[in-house]
Amino acid sequence: MNVLDSERMADVLAPLGYSLSDTPDDADLVVLNTCHIREKATEKVYSELGRIKALKTARAEAGETMLIAVAGCVAQAEGAEIMRRQSAVDLVIGPQSYHRLPELIARTHRAGGERLAADFEAAAKFDALPKDRNARGVTAFLTVQEGCDRFCTFCVVPYTRGAEVSRPAEAIASEARGLAAKGVREITLLGQNVNAWNGEGARGLAGLIRQLATIPGLARIRYATSHPADMDDALIAAHGEVSALMPYLHLPVQAGSDRVLRAMNRAHTADSYIRTIEKVRAARPDIAISGDFIVGFPGESEADFEATLALVKEVGYASAFSFKYSRRPGTPAAALPGQVDEAVKGERLARLQALLESQQRAFNAHQVGRTCPILLEKPGRLPGQFIGRSPYLQSVHCDAELSQIGKIIPVEITASGHNSLSGRILEMA
Ligand code: 5AD
Ligand code: SF4
Repeated sequence: MNVLDSERMADVLAPLGYSLSDTPDDADLVVLNTCHIREKATEKVYSELGRIKALKTARAEAGETMLIAVAGCVAQAEGAEIMRRQSAVDLVIGPQSYHRLPELIARTHRAGGERLAADFEAAAKFDALPKDRNARGVTAFLTVQEGCDRFCTFCVVPYTRGAEVSRPAEAIASEARGLAAKGVREITLLGQNVNAWNGEGARGLAGLIRQLATIPGLARIRYATSHPADMDDALIAAHGEVSALMPYLHLPVQAGSDRVLRAMNRAHTADSYIRTIEKVRAARPDIAISGDFIVGFPGESEADFEATLALVKEVGYASAFSFKYSRRPGTPAAALPGQVDEAVKGERLARLQALLESQQRAFNAHQVGRTCPILLEKPGRLPGQFIGRSPYLQSVHCDAELSQIGKIIPVEITASGHNSLSGRILEMA
């Protein structure tokens, strides 16, 4: 979502004459879009700001100006603190306020204006953003929902992104049609809790996907990120029935121990999660399952952690993201007893990642010798080489031609690695 937010900020600034710069060195405006989910991400903001401040000083010495804006969830959560700790920051803007960037920049130029915008009105933002989006390639993100009402005890999202808001189906469809008209073939519907989408004009996310699947030119639809307890039967059925809906599901479980899941306020058990995966696989047997994991949640014992390993073995993941628990001030879990030692977290994470990586390699290796429809996205690093995506969200390298970008082409997979596949195009499309 931050990638999309950055693109949208560039879009709202374009009418003011701003265009993207390759490096911050010669920028008139640097927008640092930030993530607050784990402590490490937050700390990076302050070190990055130190570096940007040096660039600003260098520009000032050359008689040029540079505005520094901090956007995103760190801005939302720690706006006043950022301005106190780093005086070079000109403005701070939360994720629901970036449609106001042009106005805030104008005020900053007039000096003494409002420097902190951290409103919570997602709906106002969507209404204010330009309707006509710039397409930046053949795949695009599209926000359908923002915020989260689930309040997992470790997570800052409900506090930084606010309550769940679903955009109306018509607004989403119109944005999707606009993107398709500009050559976008694949959209990923985004939301912090996307499968809880309950906007006007369609019945749940499944109904929305069925509507979007009828848009001419749009060949592929994905969505992220989902909560297991919001995975309803209609959405599961759509995986078996809507051919544009890609066989890939990112469904975070976080942990495999019911005791830990309860303390996390996850509203599902290991068993209910596994049953959901079984239902999804019954609807779409080849689906790639991906997940998020946290190790070292307060109170997690070795036995609890082993339950996570057991769950991973039972599910069989195609890809995954895993993290050491990071204590976030203000969240309920930060105050829990039994905080786990960093060294123990590190050791558990290494064991979990070794298992997940072996599963990912096996999933990738399974494609070798098969033919896959690949959406060709962009040129690769080597001459003649292009990068595309498989239905299972794997990157695929193959030799192709520029004119084939945006086409979905049968590719025979010849080799696989941890993070990508290589193949050869079967027919010239
Ligand atoms: N510590 C570690 N990981 C976290 N996540 C969210 N909050 C925390 C935290 N405090 C992870 C979860 C979530 C992903 C986006 O980030 O796994 O699914
Ligand atoms: Fe955070 Fe996801 Fe839980 Fe919402 S469902 S509180 S975004 S981890």
